[in-house]
Amino acid sequence: MVSDALVEEVRARADLVEICGEHVSLKRVGKSYRGPCPLHGGEGPNFSIDADRGIYKCFVCGEGGDVFSFVMQRLGLDFPEAVRHVAERVGVVIPDEKDRGPDPYAGLREVTAFAEEWFLARRRSEGGRAARDYLAGRGIDDETADRFAVGFAPEGWRGLRDAARERGVDEEALLEVGLLATSERAAEPYDRFRNRLIFSIRDLQDRSIGFGGRMLGPEDREAPKYINSPDSPIFEKGRSLYLLNAARHAMRRSKAAVVVEGFMDAVTVHRHGFENVVAPLGTALARPQAALIGRYAPQAYLAYDSDKPGRKASFRAADTLLEAGVHPLIVTLPPGEDPDSLVRRLGSERFSVLLDDAMDALELKLRMLGERDYFDSAEGRRTALDHLLSTLRAVRDPALRDIYIGRAAEMTGVRRETIVHEVAREPRRVAPRSGPLRRPRRGSGEGRGDREAGAERSLLLLLVRDALLTEGAPERAWICRALDDGVRTEHFEDPAYRALFGDLSDRYRKGEGADAAGLAEAVSSDLRGLVEGLLGDATELTHPEEIYEASVERLICRPAERRLREIRREMKLADEAQKKELLREQLKIRAGLPESEKARLALVLDWLERPEPSDFEEWRGNG
Ligand code: UTP
Ligand code: MN
Repeated sequence: MVSDALVEEVRARADLVEICGEHVSLKRVGKSYRGPCPLHGGEGPNFSIDADRGIYKCFVCGEGGDVFSFVMQRLGLDFPEAVRHVAERVGVVIPDEKDRGPDPYAGLREVTAFAEEWFLARRRSEGGRAARDYLAGRGIDDETADRFAVGFAPEGWRGLRDAARERGVDEEALLEVGLLATSERAAEPYDRFRNRLIFSIRDLQDRSIGFGGRMLGPEDREAPKYINSPDSPIFEKGRSLYLLNAARHAMRRSKAAVVVEGFMDAVTVHRHGFENVVAPLGTALARPQAALIGRYAPQAYLAYDSDKPGRKASFRAADTLLEAGVHPLIVTLPPGEDPDSLVRRLGSERFSVLLDDAMDALELKLRMLGERDYFDSAEGRRTALDHLLSTLRAVRDPALRDIYIGRAAEMTGVRRETIVHEVAREPRRVAPRSGPLRRPRRGSGEGRGDREAGAERSLLLLLVRDALLTEGAPERAWICRALDDGVRTEHFEDPAYRALFGDLSDRYRKGEGADAAGLAEAVSSDLRGLVEGLLGDATELTHPEEIYEASVERLICRPAERRLREIRREMKLADEAQKKELLREQLKIRAGLPESEKARLALVLDWLERPEPSDFEEWRGNG
């Protein structure tokens, strides 16, 4: 533990502007420094540093804190590591690990170390023949087993427990790390791992913290193939990666990790020279695990099974990696192979080639959608976009995000700004469709009302936050542009949004639109909640320009669109003369719409024509 006084000294000496400045280019604005947020990867100047107070805040992603939290978030360090990292930069010497206070979990570490040694000795012993034979059959000789600390837990309920007693090892501690288990049916604690190969899971200091046990021989339905140590004070599965202790230097060197599913895969692949291999511990890749990978490597190759569940797991892991700022590439293995079987049957050369052929996660999605003809129809392209959204939402790296959105736009034919809009929206929880007649899209997910409010809200999100950033330069404010572009209070249908827009434009006209830091205070009490809600909304506003364009277009075109709908209805009842009149009006309105809006409108009107009464009712009801 680093003492509080020392932490304070490091904090006092650290220059937050300098440290953040390594990750993002900052500009001085009044008393603060501004730049794009390096934490969520935004583009607008939403990240603000108060140099005097040594704190930062992003108005879009909401992250904020001091120099230590910045380093923790940006570099994926824990607090003590962050303190050390900054201390080094500012020339404060932090006493070494050995000089720190006693490790509160020393007792637990002692028993895991003891157990690891005991399992290894059992493998080497007379009784370990079956385990050695099994390992040999899987290409692992004694030397390799020693190197990766693969041991053996013999049959019987109390081998480890007895050995521990004999050595005076603490039984409570064995229970706490889950090496012993209890049950209602057993009078006494018993060994959790029995007749299994034991993989030792180690932390970054190479200390054994937990175990994975594989049953010997063929799989049987009764017992699980693998069991793991439960979480304990020294072992948290979601924050550990198998073999990371052995892989991290290679990960740094090669700037990449290879991620495999299983213990056996990791050992075999590592042994064949891919030293940057890690495995999550039998579950989906967790965020902290992805962040751990990101600490050592900017790229990860996901070498999971290429069957359907494997693909699904790969795409999920890919999204988690993107959220951690790691670029995921997905490896395609021949059917029925996992990395362990592949490397042993076909050699490490072949595995190398497969790694080289790995595909960027979004590209692979696009390719798979293409193979299934999703891009051949409007309906299919719409569904395809839904499949891409999780990935588009996950990506943090700004450049990669741009590339992804560009690719998605290119393949689906949907405009970039529309995609950005969709991405910015809260992910829709996939709810079961309410009836067989409902179509995928347009009729589902959201009614028209929702989307309209979406445009009003998006624009206000920009206006409200933007006010925070344009002190002294009101002509750069979105509100100024919106007014120039002809947005008026009448364009807002929601009474609260309308009132807020009115308030903001008044403020702007009176020249007090610049400071919205106090906006929540300044507005009338019935708008305060709304303003706070907008300021606290975590919606991503990267690409604000596109969001602005899309929202303004929606707002301004809406009255025209509504009239067009009416005309369509009136047309059905009209006589010849009225029809002519209506047609003329229709043409006139359409001619006044921007090109992009014409195309969208054509789609909507086309939809209305479709002979599906349920959808029709729904549309009319909302329109
Ligand atoms: P697999 O079933 O793919 O096994 O599980 P594997 O790694 O190929 O194992 P071998 O080659 O038959 O020995 C992949 C990983 O999922 C976890 C383990 O971490 C395993 O390595 N798992 C699997 C469990 O945690 N429990 C199980 O019952 C099965
Ligand atoms: Mn396997």
